[in-house]
Amino acid sequence: MVYVNGAVCLSVLLFIIGLCVGLNVNNFKGSDALDSAPLIDGHNDLAYNLYELLNNNLDEFNFTKNLTDDQVWGRNACDSCYTDLPRLRKGKLGAQFWAAYVDCASQYKDAVQLTLRQIDAIKRLVAKYPNDLEFVTEAKNIEEAWKNGKIASMIGVEGGHSIDSNLAVLRLFYELGVRYMTLTHMCNTPWADSSLVNDSSVHNLTEFGEAVVYEMNRLGMLVDLSHVSHNVMRHALSITKAPVMFSHSSAFAICRNYRNVPDDVLHMVKRNNGIVMVNFYSHYVNCNSSRKATNQDVVDHINYIRNLIGADHIGIGADYDGVTSMPEGLEDVSTYTVLFDRVYESDVEPRWTKEELEKLAGRNLIRVLKAAEEVRDQLAKTEQPREDIINARDIMQGEIMSNVPPGSCYTANE
Ligand SMILES: *[C@@H]1O[C@H](CO)[C@@H](O)[C@H](O)[C@H]1NC(C)=O
Ligand SMILES: *[C@@H]1O[C@H](CO)[C@@H](O)[C@H](O)[C@H]1NC(C)=O
Ligand SMILES: *[C@@H]1O[C@H](CO)[C@@H](O)[C@H](O)[C@H]1NC(C)=O
Ligand SMILES: *[C@@H]1O[C@H](CO)[C@@H](O)[C@H](O)[C@H]1NC(C)=O
Ligand SMILES: *[C@@H]1O[C@H](CO)[C@@H](O)[C@H](O)[C@H]1NC(C)=O
Ligand SMILES: [Zn+2]
Repeated sequence: MVYVNGAVCLSVLLFIIGLCVGLNVNNFKGSDALDSAPLIDGHNDLAYNLYELLNNNLDEFNFTKNLTDDQVWGRNACDSCYTDLPRLRKGKLGAQFWAAYVDCASQYKDAVQLTLRQIDAIKRLVAKYPNDLEFVTEAKNIEEAWKNGKIASMIGVEGGHSIDSNLAVLRLFYELGVRYMTLTHMCNTPWADSSLVNDSSVHNLTEFGEAVVYEMNRLGMLVDLSHVSHNVMRHALSITKAPVMFSHSSAFAICRNYRNVPDDVLHMVKRNNGIVMVNFYSHYVNCNSSRKATNQDVVDHINYIRNLIGADHIGIGADYDGVTSMPEGLEDVSTYTVLFDRVYESDVEPRWTKEELEKLAGRNLIRVLKAAEEVRDQLAKTEQPREDIINARDIMQGEIMSNVPPGSCYTANE
């Protein structure tokens, strides 16, 4: 009798477990993928807000507080503030590229030292919150930090003006832990055109611009093509030795803003084995001014890119804290989970799989960074640091176009 009871209990138990497992499978939500793979966001401008609002005085910033209604950082006080640790946790963020961005007005002036101050601020922020953040510079450590409950924190320099046309500065940024550089921001550098020239050109990527790309390949720093002109995207993709990234750009075919990536370039990204991390900014995802952007617009961009070039080349680069308008349903960094639920619910053929959602979340970016590290390790056998120097005339022309008196800010030999 006891045995029979035991057997009955066991089968009832097994039945219940089976039922639970079955239900779990049926109840899979897109955001569940963020429990099995790290969500990596390609671009967040919190550090620029720290500079603008606090002059990088971190003592006056409480990252562990829900800042939604804060008097300085709240939604009613600051129109580009969306980020704090409680909301990042709710959004299940696993890793972040924090942007070291300085305004184009600093080009030909103090861009290098201002960028150093932003790198310093990011490093101090990460060090100040060791329970939540961990500084990471190698692909293999992203997943490790995330498994230990930390948000893996990396640095990207946003805008080639930050190196002041000098490869020495680029190399030292790498030593400081910078793992991507966006070739331009919203200004042309003397060696690369920005998206402001649309698909025309001033000088595309110059010979020195090519040297910057090659030196980034040699270092293992990702070449970020967000913000550059469409021709510079094509040019850089045709010469790079490593996969590239777009840290925060969406699809041009859906919203014709030149910050977005056109179809022919998307095909090049596929051949390059690179990644486009989709930007959420309202004006990049919805070009129809007679309605507001919603999270469905972002889902549409993600699905468009997946359908065109496959799920191996998409990621998330929301641009929180860098813009003043986010779509309905993506109001702050707590909403990534909502987006992943919506992506999974999309009525597309074939449907998203869990593995694809994990790639979208972070595994694609990890693959791309790993590949760049492998190129670095290969090139280390044959290449020395490059000694290219930019043509002085190119700098002079850039200064004139930026209304800086030529040569006024330099004491260097060249
Ligand atoms: C920061 O905010 C948290 C949560 O509101 C609070 O517990 C903590 O005391 C605050 N820290 C400081 C230094 O004010
Ligand atoms: C933060 O505060 C806002 C406003 O009070 C609230 O709606 C939201 O749920 C909070 N988020 C978290 C993660 O605590
Ligand atoms: C780029 O395109 C925008 C929008 O189509 C347009 O307003 C602007 O004048 C263009 N700029 C150039 C340099 O062609
Ligand atoms: C830039 O590249 C495009 C496409 O290859 C080409 O048509 C254009 O002439 C180039 N412009 C310059 C200034 O080299
Ligand atoms: C723009 O949005 C309005 C309002 O939703 C809609 O009626 C119109 O068809 C849209 N235009 C385009 C070109 O999609
Ligand atoms: Zn940007």
